[in-house]
Amino acid sequence: MIKIPGLIDPHVHLREPGATHKEDFDTGTASALAGGVTLVLAMPNTRPPIFDAETLEIALQAAGQRARCDYAQYLGAGPDNARSVAALARQAAALKMYLDATFGQLRLDDMSLWHDHFSCWPGDTPIVTHSESRSMGAAILMAHIYGKPIHIAHISLREEVLLIKAAKQHGIQVTCEVCPHHLFLAEGGIPLAPAGDDCCSDGLSAGRSEVRPRLATRADVEALWENLDVIDCFATDHAPHTLVEKDGENPPPGFPGLETMLPLLLTAVSEGRMSLDDIVQKSVINPRRIFHLPEQPETWVEVDENAIYEIKASEMHSRCGWTPFEGWKVKGRVCRVVLRGKTAFEDGKVVAETGYGRNVREI
Ligand code: NCD
Ligand code: ZN
Repeated sequence: MIKIPGLIDPHVHLREPGATHKEDFDTGTASALAGGVTLVLAMPNTRPPIFDAETLEIALQAAGQRARCDYAQYLGAGPDNARSVAALARQAAALKMYLDATFGQLRLDDMSLWHDHFSCWPGDTPIVTHSESRSMGAAILMAHIYGKPIHIAHISLREEVLLIKAAKQHGIQVTCEVCPHHLFLAEGGIPLAPAGDDCCSDGLSAGRSEVRPRLATRADVEALWENLDVIDCFATDHAPHTLVEKDGENPPPGFPGLETMLPLLLTAVSEGRMSLDDIVQKSVINPRRIFHLPEQPETWVEVDENAIYEIKASEMHSRCGWTPFEGWKVKGRVCRVVLRGKTAFEDGKVVAETGYGRNVREI
């Protein structure tokens, strides 16, 4: 049995308010605890989106009543809220800007809309962008011009990791995260190691493999692994949609990920593809520093690094009821999670109650 600090996931979609048939603060944070995650940063692309004082209050009320692990809520950048969200910065996880195709209504198509946000946001926390490929390059340039730290969500391409590497070498304040699905799956949902058995080697159906950014080529995935030292954080981009939705006419993009991240990463450790220290750096130390998050006292995760088992959605806590990693054989199980001195998860069961979670930005 090994003990590691509670993980921080800087990128989750908990669907509350507006789509609680997919997830809510209760089931989403139960899923977090089952995955060894004790602090989540919740994205603002809900219905309504979280982008002013009133909607922030709605999300924080819901989280205060139902969250089982600690949390902070993102604010979303809209076309005309740069000043008003900047005034709420201290209450928020950070600012999220959607600059590319995404699920939900928060999207800033016109680059001239970006300026106001980059100039107004105070910069104590980063501006997190969903920006792929060339728009990522443009966003890094604009953040640099305005002297603001920028954090690139879910990088997936070779050209992205190489540009971030070059930007860092030039002293630009840029950080980034990678999701397990962009490290372990290639386009079509084809598994790359650790692949488990033949059961899943056919990949995923078109609807189930829909995710933004899209699953990339094998060469892109290899470039992410080769440049793991450039990547600051692991993040799930936990984006639950139900199976009926994923298998239906217009499958929405997104994968659940909170309960599979640590087992997949531990499997990579057991195969010598990364170290346990990489997990602690990228899932605890770096996100805490980048987002200025407080330490969680008496908080840890007990892991059986030798347990071998199959990933099964039927054993998970997310309301969405599926996982793109169904049937994968992994090595490394979350046995117990202690959050602020209390057992929060043990023997497959979440024991932390709804409302136990704290808003780490409460002032
Ligand atoms: C996210 C969602 O469903 O909210 N989907 C996804 O494919 N990642 C939206 C997003 O992060 O772009
Ligand atoms: Zn996301």
